[in-house]
Amino acid sequence: MNALQGRDLLSLADLSAQEIQDLLQLAADLKAGKVKPRCDKVLGLLFNKASTRTRVSFTVAMYQLGGQVIDLNPNVTQINRGEPLADTARVLNRYLDILAIRTFEQQELQTFADYCDIPIVNALSDREHPCQILADLLTIQECFGTLAGLTLTYLGDGNNVAHSLLLGCALVGMNIRIGCPGGYLPDGEIVAQAQAIANSRATTQQPPTEVLVTEDPKEAVAGVQILYTDVWASMGQESLADSRIPIFQPYQINDQLLSFADSHAIVLHCLPAHREEEITDAVIEGVRSRVWDQAENRMHAQKALLVSLLGAD
Ligand code: CP
Ligand code: NVA
Repeated sequence: MNALQGRDLLSLADLSAQEIQDLLQLAADLKAGKVKPRCDKVLGLLFNKASTRTRVSFTVAMYQLGGQVIDLNPNVTQINRGEPLADTARVLNRYLDILAIRTFEQQELQTFADYCDIPIVNALSDREHPCQILADLLTIQECFGTLAGLTLTYLGDGNNVAHSLLLGCALVGMNIRIGCPGGYLPDGEIVAQAQAIANSRATTQQPPTEVLVTEDPKEAVAGVQILYTDVWASMGQESLADSRIPIFQPYQINDQLLSFADSHAIVLHCLPAHREEEITDAVIEGVRSRVWDQAENRMHAQKALLVSLLGAD
């Protein structure tokens, strides 16, 4: 039995550094066709928010493994008619082999984890987006051949993606800088958790990797190898989108800001992107952009995750 079999993935910090490395290696082997595990299991997708990439990449990954997928849109289940989550969880646990959930409150994921024996996967909550960051790390490893010692700067809202990047980068020995306006900083608990992870990896020869939160976009970007951004208003915050544009404008990834990064820097975006808001059309379509590889890697990283959590071989 592998170390991940039967486990939940609610936060990226549920994984150790070694487990992330093992998942990335398996994802690379799957992508290269070096291994072809089979798995005739059933994945449920319980999504309370819209999704293109996560929904389709999980579905295709499961189909390619020989498994099946049930789309549990809450509008067609009894969930939106008031059935308690704990009851839904105990019933789904009797039918499914694994359940990926996209929702608002992290606590909902915890409720499912508490009442289910099957693996529960966070397919995005307001707090974290761990599956995204596994694909991001795979993309960075493909581009640079390594992760440790690289510096990634995330610019924009201190949101779910920023939180999982903080944890993921600290776990794999990357430096992480977050550049965002005051009032939109990442959660202090997650920053402290990332700092604690970075400190725990340090040795007498090797100081802790950097965990920096700054309101200065140029300081954030100076010399870094990876620039990353996400929408300025996440799902559920649509009514705030227009008022945020002037506040976040200095954090837009454009050619000028990109010129302060390393000359070989790459640009990532989890997508969907709002062109000319958090990133210019010229940058996302430009030579530095790796967003389409990044999106493809959602499927390979999640296939590795499914194989590992389900114990397929
Ligand atoms: N990046 C991401 O999670 O995309 P979707 O919202 O389309 O799933
Ligand atoms: N922060 C964004 C990510 C979308 C993939 C959101 O939560 O809407």
